[in-house]
Amino acid sequence: MSCPESLSSLLNTYGQSHLLEFWDTLVPLQQQHLQGQIESIDFEQLRCLLAQEGLEQLWSEKAARAEPPPAITLDRFRDSVAHSKALELGGEAIAAGKVAMVLTAGGQGSRLGFDHPKGMFPIGPLSQRSLYQIIIEKVAARAKQFGGIIPFYVMTSPPTHNESLNYLTQNKRFGYPDRDFRMFCQGVMPAVDSDGKIILAEKHSIFQSPNGHGGAIAGLVESGHLQEMLDRGVEHIFYGQVDNPLIQACDPSLIGFHIMNESEMTTQVIRKNEPLQKVGNVVSVDGNVQIIEYSDLPEEHARAQNPDGSLKFWAGSIAVHVFNSSFLDRVRHDTDSLPFHRAQKQVPYIDRDGDLVRPEHANATKFEKFIFDLLPKAKNAIVCEVDPAEGFCAVKNAPPASSETPEHVKKAMSDLHRKWLERAGVSVAEGVTIEINPSFAVDQQQVVARMGKMEDVVASKYFD
Ligand code: UTP
Repeated sequence: MSCPESLSSLLNTYGQSHLLEFWDTLVPLQQQHLQGQIESIDFEQLRCLLAQEGLEQLWSEKAARAEPPPAITLDRFRDSVAHSKALELGGEAIAAGKVAMVLTAGGQGSRLGFDHPKGMFPIGPLSQRSLYQIIIEKVAARAKQFGGIIPFYVMTSPPTHNESLNYLTQNKRFGYPDRDFRMFCQGVMPAVDSDGKIILAEKHSIFQSPNGHGGAIAGLVESGHLQEMLDRGVEHIFYGQVDNPLIQACDPSLIGFHIMNESEMTTQVIRKNEPLQKVGNVVSVDGNVQIIEYSDLPEEHARAQNPDGSLKFWAGSIAVHVFNSSFLDRVRHDTDSLPFHRAQKQVPYIDRDGDLVRPEHANATKFEKFIFDLLPKAKNAIVCEVDPAEGFCAVKNAPPASSETPEHVKKAMSDLHRKWLERAGVSVAEGVTIEINPSFAVDQQQVVARMGKMEDVVASKYFD
């Protein structure tokens, strides 16, 4: 069919007519597909995003006013009365069915170069259990520990949905009860080249990428899952990302501190090990907790020190949060106002001759919403510190990268589980690999509780 006039004039208005370059060579089904994609794009929104300038100036002004955030730090609270109280409150909330888990797994995992959704990546150092399995088993262990039900919500995206759904269905959600397990899909955004032109992935298809983990809020609202949580009496939503197998999923103390501080959004952080570490900086600006990305924080501010020589902006985000469901309900209508961030990525594209090009360097701008941009809207937002050795090691890169590869993460898991055993009085031989399944023990305390049954460990061992 010939191209509808409305379509070509729309694209003309926004300088995107190249999307119809191959129209006449397409079969009707392909034309329909392309037309549908074009009609789903908010071109006015895209025009505004492309026109945005002066963002750097905004960040340096914010950084100049920033202070460290209100924080529950490890040195103040480890083994304290407040910590015991937090554990008790968090455990009670789980037992009463007031806690849900949201796991985001919509990213394309482009740096890892794995041909399946990242959640399916085998990461158990001995068991080869996948990221999905490990995190699901941790949440199941917490539900069992406190005798409660934790509704589990997985966010996928069009590129990861079908395969994740099949994988989790075939594996019977690794034992998680069907009635308490939901999956929903986040939205997508087009990517543009350096001239602001929307990228074609195929002659009849626009390249679309997931719209960032901030898409979780709209996804929860549109799928009806936020309402379902409210109807079920869920008060606290534990949020985590699928690429961190060390995550202390549904950790009762984090939930408890969130409750004790009447916080609407609590975020777990690590102490940065160097000023320019590539993590979001959690700060407080004009009394509102927020995150300034490492790439947006001017270096002089990133290096600022306290009088004792410690880093002023010490708190690095690890993308683990607890939200009040009532807070998400209140801001659900505001989520359109979450800003888009730009990320430069390598994206294969169709050139003007119709050939597929695989670029060797970043050639595209993707637009993503970040969930942590909700922080300034939350009342009493606080941060809680966790030792990264105990709570954070994400799988990001393929070897031979110098960090965040599967080998680094497997070692971090084994090191942590070895430490749990040693602290419980078990002798572990040098150089052996240790892996502990959450059904055996989900934390240090549970290992200690089982200590009586353990012998010295002389060879690599999987405790399940
Ligand atoms: P990253 O931004 O690190 O993306 O997301 P990624 O997919 O893991 O890897 P790259 O950048 O393509 O190499 C961190 C986490 O947030 C989730 C991802 O699934 C990942 O667990 N995420 C990210 C989403 O769920 N949706 C998104 O749109 C982006």
